Amino acid sequence: MKIKAAVLRKYGAPMPIEELELAPPREHEVQVKMLACGFCHSDLSVWQGHIPQDIPMVAGHEACAVVEKVGPGVSKLKPGDRVIGCWMVPCGHCYQCRRGHPNLCETAMPFFQAGNLLDGTSRLTDKHGKRVGLGSFIAGFATHSVMPETGAIRVPDHIKLPPEQLCQLGCSVATGWGSVVNVAGAREGNSIGVWGCGGIGLNAIRFAALRHCHPIVAVDIEASKRDLALEFGATHFIDNSQTDPIPVIKELTGGAGLEFAIEAIGDPGAQVQAWWAIRSGGTVITIGIPPIDSTTNLPLFYAPLHAKSIRGTLYGETHPTEDLPHLMEVMNTGVLKTDKLVTRLIRLEELDEVRRAMLAREVKGRWVIKYD
Ligand SMILES: NC(=O)c1ccc[n+]([C@@H]2O[C@H](COP(=O)([O-])OP(=O)(O)OC[C@H]3O[C@@H](n4cnc5c(N)ncnc54)[C@H](O)[C@@H]3O)[C@@H](O)[C@H]2O)c1
Ligand SMILES: [Zn+2]
Ligand SMILES: [Zn+2]
Repeated sequence: MKIKAAVLRKYGAPMPIEELELAPPREHEVQVKMLACGFCHSDLSVWQGHIPQDIPMVAGHEACAVVEKVGPGVSKLKPGDRVIGCWMVPCGHCYQCRRGHPNLCETAMPFFQAGNLLDGTSRLTDKHGKRVGLGSFIAGFATHSVMPETGAIRVPDHIKLPPEQLCQLGCSVATGWGSVVNVAGAREGNSIGVWGCGGIGLNAIRFAALRHCHPIVAVDIEASKRDLALEFGATHFIDNSQTDPIPVIKELTGGAGLEFAIEAIGDPGAQVQAWWAIRSGGTVITIGIPPIDSTTNLPLFYAPLHAKSIRGTLYGETHPTEDLPHLMEVMNTGVLKTDKLVTRLIRLEELDEVRRAMLAREVKGRWVIKYD
């Protein structure tokens, strides 16, 4: 069928909206109509060429959609079901899946990077009949797509949240949650700092607040991010364009430093600040994905001497099929404040405006494409 999509053809250049051909779903796949798709900073980094992916491709990995058609063998979904897309679709059998790290599935990872579904092919072609990658098993910047059945998490009927909030489960909510709960294992009274109060950082702050961490220090280079950070549960906000956060954090923690510092930007300077902000035995958790060629200068003298750790995390160690249904129920109570997270609804044609605004650090919370 003919669909409309924003196609990434040239890094750093506007994405043309093109008519593409979407092939029907194959075995254990579903064809969906997109309802909403958030714009994550990872989409920006792919667009700018900072996270290398095969192009041309259709990006967009924070999507809520409705099933239109099911392929052979699909048993868990039917037309009319609302679903959330997962950008990692674990196989259940590889080394990482068997060891409890389905977010790192070694079977799915090469397909993820190449823009293919689980049989190693895309379902998208352009008007010249040339292949276009289907990004992150979702291609949320398209009016329609095909997803693996296992990567499409059903939204039960009793959940009435709008798609622009539900789509946040696919990346920002899950990653923020997992970083605090799975990776840090944060609990009452843990001191925690979050660098970067965007879509991911705000969710990390929210879950730190729900876990009764204290203090929860939000750090952002834009003072305009203060209100949302405090709304989501930060006990303190530091604008690091004006104030060096390290002495403030030392004072807030009785001279010791933080137990956990979450870096949700992908900025080498912020990573260094986070490193100096943790106490002995503390951990820097890096969610932010810096450009592939960037390096960070850390004094690792303190790694053994103060037993400091740095830990990267992908998808916050989320197990999409197990965790997303539970997180959806939590979201449905309103406690995650996803109504405040989504600050602007846009059209597919307005993606370049989001790119400009995110590069200028003007985006507060999440901007989300809402489809007709
Ligand atoms: N590891 C994962 O699984 C995963 C998942 C999703 C996103 N990410 C990455 O997480 C990062 C954050 O994504 P997002 O969508 O929340 O981004 P965002 O653009 O919404 O937010 C980034 C925030 O950082 C702030 N900022 C920028 N430079 C700063 C600096 N030097 N010091 C302090 N604050 C600064 C910006 O003002 C903004 O508020 C990105 O690198 C993204 O690629 C990783
Ligand atoms: Zn994302
Ligand atoms: Zn696997």
